[in-house]
Amino acid sequence: MSATSPVRPVLPPDIRARKGSAPLVVLTAYSTPVARLVDAHCDIALVGDSVGMVIHGMPSTLGVTMEMMILHGRAVVRGCQKSMPVIDMPFGSYEESPQQAFRNASRLMAETGAPAVKLEGGQHMAETIAFLTQRGVPVMAHIGLTPQSVNTLGGYKVVGRADEADKVMADAKAVEAAGAFSVVLEKVPEGLAGRITKALAIPTIGIGAGVDCDGQVLVVDDMLGLFTDFRPKFVKRYAELGKTADAAIAAYAAEVRSRSFPAAEHSFPDVLPAKDKT
Ligand code: KIV
Repeated sequence: MSATSPVRPVLPPDIRARKGSAPLVVLTAYSTPVARLVDAHCDIALVGDSVGMVIHGMPSTLGVTMEMMILHGRAVVRGCQKSMPVIDMPFGSYEESPQQAFRNASRLMAETGAPAVKLEGGQHMAETIAFLTQRGVPVMAHIGLTPQSVNTLGGYKVVGRADEADKVMADAKAVEAAGAFSVVLEKVPEGLAGRITKALAIPTIGIGAGVDCDGQVLVVDDMLGLFTDFRPKFVKRYAELGKTADAAIAAYAAEVRSRSFPAAEHSFPDVLPAKDKT
């Protein structure tokens, strides 16, 4: 936001205060042009570590680095005027100790200009969340299916059915008590997500967690039909931009091969030197 802009950006206390009012609208963004589109309609632009899979073609989020999050984070912050950018802490940047988490979270904030970070984990990350929030780092928590733990969870499964429900509820209460300003519930059964939403004073943001959450988040490339390697059940396609782009690129290739592109209107006519004019 520029110093002269009349728009006050959304900050973590504004998001926390939205509990119980209009649903929070959240999408991921990884570039300035997409952040501008998200900014026009959403409350939060999440620079998710899903960037590794949807933009960089990685098989999971585990290979995402601090440098990648900083680069994409800066691009998104440049595109946000009124929505709030939040940057994911990548795998390996915060789990070792609260001090390691603070070093990397403060770097993400200082080097991107984003006012908040997101990290995965419930009760076992509560001490770290408290350490960060007490030192000026607003934290969005992320519980339920935590993709950075895909190898210990054994896949991208629903988390919180039957005997697991009490643990997910305890995770939600622990991150709230630790000072998180909101919590993402990923692939949590809808009834449990509704009960967690009622039990917490901070907003819940669901992805595959039903309609009773305080807000919803999707990966922007999923909902635009740009990332099609796989499609979780919770993704609704609002556009088929991948198909549109494929048709456009096919048309371009055909026109280049048939020499119908570039046409005269895309070319620059010669200007003859005066001596050659008759
Ligand atoms: O990385 C990401 O995009 C996320 C959202 C799916 C919540 O964490």
